[in-house]
Amino acid sequence: MDELERIVEAARIDEEDKVENSLRPQSLDTFIGQDKLKKNLKVFIEAAKNRSEALDHCLFYAPPGLGKTTLSHIIAKEMGSNLRMTSGPVLERVGDLAAILTNLSERDVFFIDEIHRMNHLVEESLYPVMEDFELDIIIGQGPSAKTIKLSVPRFTLIGATTRAGLLSSPLRDRFGIIEHLDFYEIKELIHIVNRSAAIMNIAIDEDASEEIAKRSRGTPRIVNRLLKRIRDFAEIKGGKITRSIAEEALGALEVDSAGLDKMDRLILTVLIKKFGGGPVGVDTIAVAISEESDTITDVYEPYLIQSGFIARTSRGRVVTETGYNHIGIDPPKNFQKELL
Ligand SMILES: Nc1ncnc2c1ncn2[C@@H]1O[C@H](COP(=O)(O)OP(=O)(O)O)[C@@H](O)[C@H]1O
Ligand SMILES: [Mg+2]
Repeated sequence: MDELERIVEAARIDEEDKVENSLRPQSLDTFIGQDKLKKNLKVFIEAAKNRSEALDHCLFYAPPGLGKTTLSHIIAKEMGSNLRMTSGPVLERVGDLAAILTNLSERDVFFIDEIHRMNHLVEESLYPVMEDFELDIIIGQGPSAKTIKLSVPRFTLIGATTRAGLLSSPLRDRFGIIEHLDFYEIKELIHIVNRSAAIMNIAIDEDASEEIAKRSRGTPRIVNRLLKRIRDFAEIKGGKITRSIAEEALGALEVDSAGLDKMDRLILTVLIKKFGGGPVGVDTIAVAISEESDTITDVYEPYLIQSGFIARTSRGRVVTETGYNHIGIDPPKNFQKELL
């Protein structure tokens, strides 16, 4: 399926950047939800500021669209420092890393998105940087090659990844602060709908906010995306987003009552019809629906599991009773609850 077609796609789509930035909360206090994480960060930031030190290196892992990038902006802001952003795949050579590091100031925040996709040479050169703020650079080749140590300002590395399990343990171990972001609860999502609607200057009824929240897969980025599309429907009908307009628009976008789209429903249907409800491995599912295994694991599966439609077992993925019911197929008579 074409990525751009997917309305509930949680990964960022380029054209969205501008709007996304305008909707980003600018401080921990306006960052909705993730209360435990915010509380911890407040303490760590406060303590680092009191000591005039850089904040410890942070690793945020969460499915796309839950606020990893937003948090890194906020941390830089709260620390009163600059933010420098890049991503794992962009850092091709150690030289690319050196260029960035040598331009940092003390206590700056250096954000590496998709840090699990870093080339291993770059990754290894990051270890002494994170530990001792020293970068080893090899100059020349063969017997005359020399290593020089470059000292780097004491900065904060923030790494973001969709799955902590993809990170090598030497890298993971060098982060002082490791935090997971959870899918958001409905009442938090309603809050986000209302906040974004206010920024976008859209009038919206409370029950419409709730409907959008329920269908946003626990993901703020999807809240914002649905809201923008629903606004288009509302504008034709007088402006205000009412519940019936929201429902009509969501129906037209093929986002169902649980926030699942065509692809999610296809996964469930294929699991049931082709594989008897599982257990079946991700790679097999991937082949059956012509999608990459990583995309299934990172993008589709977390929410299907979170909402109880499928379960991950040692022998593979299985559709739960709730999953069968959602698709409207009766679970088999010998449905094996003990699998779950
Ligand atoms: N806690 C939150 N409160 C309000 N809006 C949020 C929150 N987290 C994320 N968002 C919104 O969702 C969008 C995506 O967040 P982002 O930080 O880019 O996600 P990630 O980097 O994890 O993929 C941002 O535009 C932001 O406006
Ligand atoms: Mg991001």
